[in-house]
Amino acid sequence: MRRRSPYRWALGIENGEKMNLKSKFFNQISPVKILCLLIMTLFWAAACPDEKKPAENKQFLEADPFARNELLGRTMNLGNALEAPAEGEWGVTLHSHYFDSIAAAGFTAVRVPIRWSAHALPVAPHTIEPSFLTRVQWVVAQSERVGLAPIIDFHHYVEIFSEPEAHRKRFLEIWKQIATVFQYGDTALFYEVLNEPHDNLTAELWNELLAEAIDTIRAIDSVHTLIIGTAEWGGIAAMNKLKIPDDEDNIIFTFHYYEPFQFTHQGAGWNEGSEAWLGTTWSGTPQQQQNIIADLSQVKNWAAQQNLPVFLGEFGAYHRAPMESRALWTQYVRHTAESMNMSWAYWEFCSGFGAYNANTESWRPQLLQALIP
Ligand code: BGC
Repeated sequence: MRRRSPYRWALGIENGEKMNLKSKFFNQISPVKILCLLIMTLFWAAACPDEKKPAENKQFLEADPFARNELLGRTMNLGNALEAPAEGEWGVTLHSHYFDSIAAAGFTAVRVPIRWSAHALPVAPHTIEPSFLTRVQWVVAQSERVGLAPIIDFHHYVEIFSEPEAHRKRFLEIWKQIATVFQYGDTALFYEVLNEPHDNLTAELWNELLAEAIDTIRAIDSVHTLIIGTAEWGGIAAMNKLKIPDDEDNIIFTFHYYEPFQFTHQGAGWNEGSEAWLGTTWSGTPQQQQNIIADLSQVKNWAAQQNLPVFLGEFGAYHRAPMESRALWTQYVRHTAESMNMSWAYWEFCSGFGAYNANTESWRPQLLQALIP
């Protein structure tokens, strides 16, 4: 069982319960709890030196990961840009007006997949290329300029999936640098520890590496919420194998959902045999809907037992699937996630799964409508 934060305790919030701060505050808080909260606040203020205060200090209650997860309510993945070996190589270069369009459409956050491993020295001290770091800082600044919460996602560290031990120290050293740079950023900034661990980075090894990564980040930055997913490609299957250290509770659980895979990945060149799936439709039959509800319910129930908020960090259907089916499926998954109090991120903005057409600089109306009705 996860440790409960003092704020949730003070407000009488039970495990897995979503916060309605206003009503909780007025209905359940007692004078004794108010006094305790006051003492905790004074303690906190005294413990933090004045200069270079993390943005956290400005809002005590914001530290609750359930409240922070609401910032990720409607997130867009900025896929195929910074997680390509070099930005632009996979056809996407980020422009400042993209952030305006995403915010204006009603999204609340952007998940930024980043291939840090391609931009850090292979040997100690594994320094991140300054120009790349500046580029990521620009992305974070653009997000904040338009009021989108950025997720710094450690994506496509392909080498660590084949040789986990050989890349362990490098991974941690890179995180040290990221946390050092972003620790004073707005509290509405999130760290996603590692996208879709798989292959030789087994569930067991991932648990060990995760504990080390948390220690590494927390030694520098105790403020920003961590987003943590499962081994075996970030899906539901390995959820029961995930072990999050008990002493860390500023965490959001994430999983990815692309079921039925033969529908969402039809014609996707990186999946062998996927040409044969072309033409697969999803029309939302009772059985098809039930499958999605059953899958997402599993996550909901597991997370409730762990007292973790949930972020569906990737879902989407490739552009070669029929548009009508894509829109129906996207709408149904999005709606089901929301009905289970999960935040979500569509995969992705303007590439192969794109909800936005970068050539015409306009949204694909069926997909946008499915995401933000
Ligand atoms: C991968 C992408 C892929 C997507 C859908 C993501 O996690 O990083 O390369 O397009 O999943 O398969």
